[in-house]
Amino acid sequence: MNSVLIIGAGAAGSVVAKKCAMNRDVFKKIHLASRRLESCKKVQAECKTPIDISQVDADNVQETVALLKKVKPDLVINMALPYQDLAIMDACLEAGVHYMDTANYEPREEAKFTYKYQWPYHDAFKAKGLMAILGCGFDPGVTNIFCAYAQEELFDTIKTIDIIDCNAGSHGKAFATNFNPEINLREVTQRGKYWKEGEWIEIDPLSISAMIDYPEVGEVKSYLIYHEEEESLVENIKGLEQIRFWMTFSDNYIKHLEVLQNVGMTRIDPVMYKGTPVVPMEFLKSLLPEPSSLAENYSGKTSIGVIIKGHKDGEKVRYMIWNVCDHAETNKEVGAQAVSYTTGVPPVVGAMMLFQGHWKAPEGEKGGVFNVEQLPPKPFLEELGKQGLPWHVRQIKKKEQKDLFDVET
Ligand SMILES: NC(=O)c1ccc[n+]([C@@H]2O[C@H](COP(=O)([O-])OP(=O)(O)OC[C@H]3O[C@@H](n4cnc5c(N)ncnc54)[C@H](OP(=O)(O)O)[C@@H]3O)[C@@H](O)[C@H]2O)c1
Repeated sequence: MNSVLIIGAGAAGSVVAKKCAMNRDVFKKIHLASRRLESCKKVQAECKTPIDISQVDADNVQETVALLKKVKPDLVINMALPYQDLAIMDACLEAGVHYMDTANYEPREEAKFTYKYQWPYHDAFKAKGLMAILGCGFDPGVTNIFCAYAQEELFDTIKTIDIIDCNAGSHGKAFATNFNPEINLREVTQRGKYWKEGEWIEIDPLSISAMIDYPEVGEVKSYLIYHEEEESLVENIKGLEQIRFWMTFSDNYIKHLEVLQNVGMTRIDPVMYKGTPVVPMEFLKSLLPEPSSLAENYSGKTSIGVIIKGHKDGEKVRYMIWNVCDHAETNKEVGAQAVSYTTGVPPVVGAMMLFQGHWKAPEGEKGGVFNVEQLPPKPFLEELGKQGLPWHVRQIKKKEQKDLFDVET
């Protein structure tokens, strides 16, 4: 296998294409397709080696099938929006192509992240001997793989997982989101949720916070939100008692978010305006800066990882596993800010894992739908640093993250 089709030439998809084009020993054929050909042309011109491009509306299964039959890739990396996941999976099944994405399917009319739509494709992919690899970005993605690595190498039993996500960067705009504004705002305005002892516990949005000490950044107030990898990790990490997800938001971001919510601009249902139905969130997206436009003056770093508590050889142990990524450095390398870079590099590494045979269905099976933590973590992590995302692991003491371990949930 050596031929890849990337769908979605946005902020993160452009990183995927550019990184594939820097690894021609693995990716002999690279094709980038998106809703607008101009988006592809821009990325094509910035790739270090030649790639092919096409226009496709990935909501249209038959249009995508026709493209797949023409290009004949081994794998589709879906870097479009979560709305397109099922249509692209259907097209992959019909054309006999492996599938990978970085975000789970979400219906347009309901901001609800869940694998319940994609997991039922398991038998169909298995029957065709095809792999569908879900959630292969950074979070979900690398954070899941950190957990799988911890389960395999560092712990006998894992009791708690805290996924911690800090963007300590500054883009200089009054208000902008680091990835697709619509998807980002739908994520942070929904009710928070975490999992404890077999139950999902819902909380009001941004109502629980803790000070977390992030590597190379320092202490930053972080909010408990729901994030999609919690759903699969609950299934795949044995003996788990609690999982929570924490993200930093600046006071400025929260101020803007509050006002936008209060005036109804984050609504996802249509409202009539001068006789035309308008979805306020979609209109708002059209006013906000494109995430790919933020790279130029972005300074600072992202610091994302996991803090895990459990037992090893009868002793209570705590580990932190993380990556730090610098916005200015990623801009220099591929003309993208660190959030797009940390999202775009992992699927390239995941594709390498599939092409090189490190990631495959379990013994005796030929395919199916898998979350990344179900696949071997070590070869992935060995390659990740080489592709620009070095990671670190360290045993920590409770007092180093006192606020996080003490927060009542
Ligand atoms: N796991 C993670 O760590 C993580 C983190 C951040 C984001 N993500 C996910 O990454 C994905 C991309 O995010 P982004 O920030 O790159 O967003 P973005 O800049 O808005 O890019 C999305 C791209 O999708 C394309 N697209 C939209 N509808 C399409 C359709 N019907 N057919 C074909 N192409 C279509 C758009 O194409 P045109 O430009 O051609 O119109 C756009 O370029 C999202 O699913 C997001 O949830 C994952």
